[in-house]
Amino acid sequence: MNRKYRKTIIAGNWKMHKTACETRTFAESLKHALPRTKRCSIVICVPFTNIPIAIKTLKDCRVAIAAQNMHWEESGAYTGEISAQMLVELGVKYVLIGHSERREYFAETDAIVNKKIHAALAAGLHPILCVGETEAQRELNLTDAHLNYQVQAALSGVSSEQIKNITIAYEPIWAIGTGKTATPEQAGEACATIRSILRSLYGAKLARQTTIQYGGSMNPENAKNLLSQSDVDGGLIGGASLKPENFLDIIFTANEYEESET
Ligand code: 13P
Repeated sequence: MNRKYRKTIIAGNWKMHKTACETRTFAESLKHALPRTKRCSIVICVPFTNIPIAIKTLKDCRVAIAAQNMHWEESGAYTGEISAQMLVELGVKYVLIGHSERREYFAETDAIVNKKIHAALAAGLHPILCVGETEAQRELNLTDAHLNYQVQAALSGVSSEQIKNITIAYEPIWAIGTGKTATPEQAGEACATIRSILRSLYGAKLARQTTIQYGGSMNPENAKNLLSQSDVDGGLIGGASLKPENFLDIIFTANEYEESET
């Protein structure tokens, strides 16, 4: 992490877990146990149906609510879809775009990801763009090339002003939900690669200011080492974000680390 230049964001991605009632219980536990210091931003990415209760329960604390997906059109005949404006009206601040599960199971292409990024920005949402390589790509030494392609495709047409409102999450697909975490060095290197891609697109200053998270089996045991990498500016946490005590543990770790750094 490097607090001097950029925000640290600890985000929980619940995926398709928890009902609205369970969300209220989680949010109550979280809000009573949050650290007093406000050294990292906290986000939870909840299923659409849980957004109102999450926002209501957490309204007085500094936990922002994110959606896990959205459609790129403002409105129209797209049965089952949700627009950016619908999310904004509820008080949603962030939205995950291009999560590997959406790319894999719902055929989201880089072109769709790019359209969603533009639609989210236009509506005033802060996209968390997810990128990452497969195990085969890593074994073939194609990680950097893949990241380069994915980041450039997703950010096509995004201006220097707009990049300030984007967070990138590096999520190696082989580490998601597998318990197989990237080593701190692998995570640090890939996040540094993403930062160098941003540097070539937007210049050194904006690249330095962009938050780049790591996601993939992050948990209370490995968070400290992952977050100690200077280019890893937080976490996007799946499984370990589902229990308040685990999620809080990671939040406290991020907080403590920063306190010792500054
Ligand atoms: P896990 O932490 O369960 O591996 O999930 C990571 C992820 O996909 C977060 O978006």
